[in-house]
Amino acid sequence: MNSKFPVWQDKLVKKYKFDAPVFITRPDLPVLSELDGYLAKIWSSGWVTNNGAYHGILENELAKYLKVKDISLFCNGTLALQIGINALGLKGEVITTPFTFAATPHVLYWNGIKPVFCDIEEDTYNIDVNKIEALITRETTAILPVHVFGVPCNVEKLASIGRKHGLKIVYDAAHSFGVRVRGVGIGNFGDAAMFSFHATKIFTTIEGGSLVCNERALKEKVDYLKNFGIKNEEEVVGPGTNAKMNEIQAAIGLIQLKKIDDEIKKRKALTGIYRRELTNVPGIIFSTDMDGVEHNYQYFVIRVVAKDYGAGRDALFDLLRKMNIIVRKYFYPLCSHYPCYSSLPSASPANLPVAERISGAVLSFPLYGRLPESTVKTICAIIKDICHENKKTG
Ligand SMILES: Cc1ncc(COP(=O)(O)O)c(C=O)c1O
Repeated sequence: MNSKFPVWQDKLVKKYKFDAPVFITRPDLPVLSELDGYLAKIWSSGWVTNNGAYHGILENELAKYLKVKDISLFCNGTLALQIGINALGLKGEVITTPFTFAATPHVLYWNGIKPVFCDIEEDTYNIDVNKIEALITRETTAILPVHVFGVPCNVEKLASIGRKHGLKIVYDAAHSFGVRVRGVGIGNFGDAAMFSFHATKIFTTIEGGSLVCNERALKEKVDYLKNFGIKNEEEVVGPGTNAKMNEIQAAIGLIQLKKIDDEIKKRKALTGIYRRELTNVPGIIFSTDMDGVEHNYQYFVIRVVAKDYGAGRDALFDLLRKMNIIVRKYFYPLCSHYPCYSSLPSASPANLPVAERISGAVLSFPLYGRLPESTVKTICAIIKDICHENKKTG
């Protein structure tokens, strides 16, 4: 079923090919003049990094927006998570998902921790809470779930597993900026949660990230660790590293924060078009909003069921790429397939049947606030036309 499309594809490519690539995301950068005032202040103060004024303001503003108590800013999300895990003193084994970006298991590796891969749920693509307990050993110290594509994990069940087995829960919330579950900011769940502010994320400081610490002492520790372990001019409390956010990143964050609600609103409207247009297309599956959840619409992802659509994900990917639509196979391959992890017993495909199947079928589509509605409608028309041609030609 994953075979290439027949000759009619050339006709469709001719009809629909975009002149310029349509990327999966584009950062909503501020107009340059908006930066002038901020840059002038940074330049005149000469304080360009190391806990500067804008850094402090952004921490406060983000804590309010995300509805969390304490937040620490970092130069990227990977180091935020890596340092958070180190500060919590995790070791041994940590249970995580293979259906994620490379950074998730890598932060465990860099802490000398063995990742243990758990299968995922069919409907949310998040770690399967019913398969976690069978993976717990005497070496397990924590669970590292990911709110994949911004869809919340089963936070209540994860908290109860953590309590029952004395395990820490650290969330990779890289995709989940601004998501709320029954009015509660998603960063409040678990012992700590990391948000990424990378240019591909809905809220960006170009590179950047943060760690929400649900204990004051943890924030204090990560703040030392991201600054070489330096507590004051004469005390170094531990072997830290350099993972600080600078003032220009913080200033960009303050500008972006003013626009975030508008960005989410626009993405919600575009997601609505995708969902409306693709309803009832055979073999195209996508998620809908969850009850009680305020979503952020970070990604629009479909799953292609080859036997119903008439062709598989890879064939659709190839044809859309020919039309200059830069779709992405998030997340393929699974992290458990990387050479650095594939020999782990938990990485065996037999242990991860749902993740294996879903990873072979998912496709992420262009979605960002400034994406024209007409582009989304054209992409949906293409997906429908391809299905139609497939059925016609068998
Ligand atoms: C799930 C996930 N975790 C971690 C990261 C790493 O974040 P950063 O790029 O800010 O280091 C990303 C993406 O960038 C991600 O998608």
